[in-house]
Amino acid sequence: MATDSLEQFSAHWLPVGEVHLWQAGLDLVQTEIEACYRSLSEEEIWRADRYHFERDRRRFVARRGILRQLLSRYIDKLPSDLQLVVNRYGKPSLAQPDLKVTELHFNLSYSNELALFAFARGRAIGVDVEQLRADFDPIPLAERFFSTRECETLRLVAEKDRRMAFFMGWTRKEAFVKALGIGFSIPLDQFDVSLMPGEPARLLARRDEPQPGLKWTLLNIDLGPSYLAALAVEGDRPITLKRLTVEQDRAEGSGQKTSTGYKIFTQKTVDVAESG
Ligand SMILES: CC(C)(COP(=O)(O)OP(=O)(O)OC[C@H]1O[C@@H](n2cnc3c(N)ncnc32)[C@H](O)[C@@H]1OP(=O)(O)O)[C@@H](O)C(=O)NCCC(=O)NCCS
Repeated sequence: MATDSLEQFSAHWLPVGEVHLWQAGLDLVQTEIEACYRSLSEEEIWRADRYHFERDRRRFVARRGILRQLLSRYIDKLPSDLQLVVNRYGKPSLAQPDLKVTELHFNLSYSNELALFAFARGRAIGVDVEQLRADFDPIPLAERFFSTRECETLRLVAEKDRRMAFFMGWTRKEAFVKALGIGFSIPLDQFDVSLMPGEPARLLARRDEPQPGLKWTLLNIDLGPSYLAALAVEGDRPITLKRLTVEQDRAEGSGQKTSTGYKIFTQKTVDVAESG
C-alpha cells in the first residue's frame, strides 16, 4: 500500500483526468468534533443545531469539517475561509473558484458513520453510498424508482443476486442525479443504468438529453460487505480513480489526537479504462 504524506502533494495535486475518492468515518472523538465545528460557517452551524439526535448532529459536523479540510488542501485556503454555496437543488460548490487552475468539482455522500468525498477538475461529479440491507423486496421498490428497462433487467437477475443488483442500480442512478446536480427535475425513469451483476457500470441511455453527446462515466465502488457506492463523472474514459482514506491520527487506544491533521494515504489507483 503506497503511503504518501500530505506534504508531498502541492496544493493543486489533483490533475485533470484524475478523480479522487476519499473515505472517512464520521464517529469522531470530542476533540476532533470541536476542531471540525470551529471550521464551519454560520449556516452550517445553524443546520447542525437543527438535528434532533446528537449522533446525527455530530456526524453532520464531522462530514462538513472533513469536507472543508479536504477542500482546503486542493485550493490552498484555510478550511474556515472557504465559502460554500448551494444551487437551487441543494448541490454545494465553492463560491470562490480558484481561477489559476481548472475548476474543482466535488460531491459527498454518507450512510451511517461512513462518508465519501469525491473530487475532480473541470468535470461534474456525483457520488452515492448506501448501506446494504436485506430486509426489503427489491422489485416493488424498483418499480417505483427505476426505468422500465432497469425493472426488466432486475427481473432477469437470479433472486439471490437481486438485492445487490438493485443497490448497484440505485447507487448509479443516485450518483448520476447528484453529478447533474438538478435533483429530481430529471425523472428517474428518463435514463437507464446497467445493473446486471458482472457487467460494468454504464449509463446506457438518456431520454431527456439537454446536451446531446455529453458523455458520462459511471464507476462501481466496492466497499466490502456492508456498503456499496457509485461515482458518476462527466466525460469519457479513461479516468484514473485514486482512492484515499482520512484517518484520525490518534495515540493507540487513547482516543486522543497525537498531532494536528489527518493521516492520509493513497489506497489504490484504478485505471478505469482497464477496470471497466
Ligand atoms: C438530496 C439528494 C441529492 C441525496 O440524498 P441522499 O441520498 O439522502 O444523501 P447523500 O448522502 O447521498 O448526499 C448528501 C449530500 O449530497 C449533497 N447534495 C445535496 N443536494 C444535492 C444535489 N441536488 N445534487 C448533488 N448533491 C447534493 C450535499 O452535500 C449533501 O450533504 P450535506 O447533508 O452535508 O449537505 C437527493 O438525490 C435525494 O433526496 N435522494 C433521495 C433518495 C432517492 O429517492 N433516490 C432514488 C434513486 S433510484
